[in-house]
Amino acid sequence: MGTVIPLKKEIDNSYLRLKNLIGSKLDDVSQRIKYKLASEINLIHKMTDYHVKSGGKRIRPLLTLASAKLCGYKDGNRDVNLAACIELIHNATLLHDDVIDNSKLRRGVKTANSVWGNQSSILVGDYLFSRCFEMMVEDGSDEILKLLSSTSSRIAQGEVLQLEHKGEVDLLEETYFNIINMKTATLFAAATRVGACLGNKSKKEKDALESYGKNLGLAFQIADDALDYLSSKTIFGKEIGKDFYEGKTTLPLIIIFQRGNNEERNFLKEIFKKNKRNEDDFSETLALINKYKAIQASFKRAEYFVNVSHDALGIFQYSKEKEILQNLTEFSLNRSF
Ligand code: IPE
Ligand code: IPE
Ligand code: MG
Ligand code: MG
Repeated sequence: MGTVIPLKKEIDNSYLRLKNLIGSKLDDVSQRIKYKLASEINLIHKMTDYHVKSGGKRIRPLLTLASAKLCGYKDGNRDVNLAACIELIHNATLLHDDVIDNSKLRRGVKTANSVWGNQSSILVGDYLFSRCFEMMVEDGSDEILKLLSSTSSRIAQGEVLQLEHKGEVDLLEETYFNIINMKTATLFAAATRVGACLGNKSKKEKDALESYGKNLGLAFQIADDALDYLSSKTIFGKEIGKDFYEGKTTLPLIIIFQRGNNEERNFLKEIFKKNKRNEDDFSETLALINKYKAIQASFKRAEYFVNVSHDALGIFQYSKEKEILQNLTEFSLNRSF
């Protein structure tokens, strides 16, 4: 670990190595999703096609497939089906999340809500959830059904908790971790635990893989929240400063509020009282982020989760899968997209 921002090339390599490990199974996941989303309703067809084609990193289904492989799952295609379920839950939450966040850009293209409107996005998000539940029932495992349904309800609770705290510039760091744990880490944890379930592993191994996923997810969301302040639209594929303009308090802002003097804290309080913040507000906030090294501090916090995630796999015997999953932990944090 050591350095905060290692060479980007190495980081992206760990993601590419994961993709190579999984090979054609990820295409099978895409096919499965396409097949499962088929509908005679024209608008559903157009919207799901658009959303699914926009791709994304597919990190969660990759995690399910790699975890299943790590746990010795070989015969059958339950891994593909369940990886598709996980990606469907993710995509459903994104359709809803973009409405709530009023987002215009995702994966480098216009969001579904900006093309077809909020109502259609909410309904098609529900459609994705419903299809996913059909697939879970078809899979037939009560354990997995229970896991993924409680995961969906935790994501929803996380999003609502976040909404409850919108505009709260003095948000406690503890509350922030609660929110990101629920809205993001839970799905990562489920994605990896499912792999252990498929391999019929012991409770301890399931818990270890769940801990790997959860901590990876926490680091992943902290990175997302940092990238929201510092990335560029073309690389990130989303609008920059979106969290700030929308009044969503994330770790960089929490840190400058913690470290700022009275005058700076009052400035932040004033701009967060407004319905809309402008570009000048954003530049001044960025200056504070620089002054208090809030991005570096965010990454420092996240490094702890990266380490816990990495070491959670320690109980597994050496394998290529284990090595690739462990290397991926740094990607979750130091990624640029
Ligand atoms: C976006 O997730 C939502 C977060 C949890 C930050 P991803 O960054 O995995 O989104 P895609 O699927 O690759 O677009
Ligand atoms: C993640 O939060 C959304 C969900 C987990 C549903 P964000 O709001 O930060 O995700 P982006 O930035 O829109 O992808
Ligand atoms: Mg969002
Ligand atoms: Mg974000």
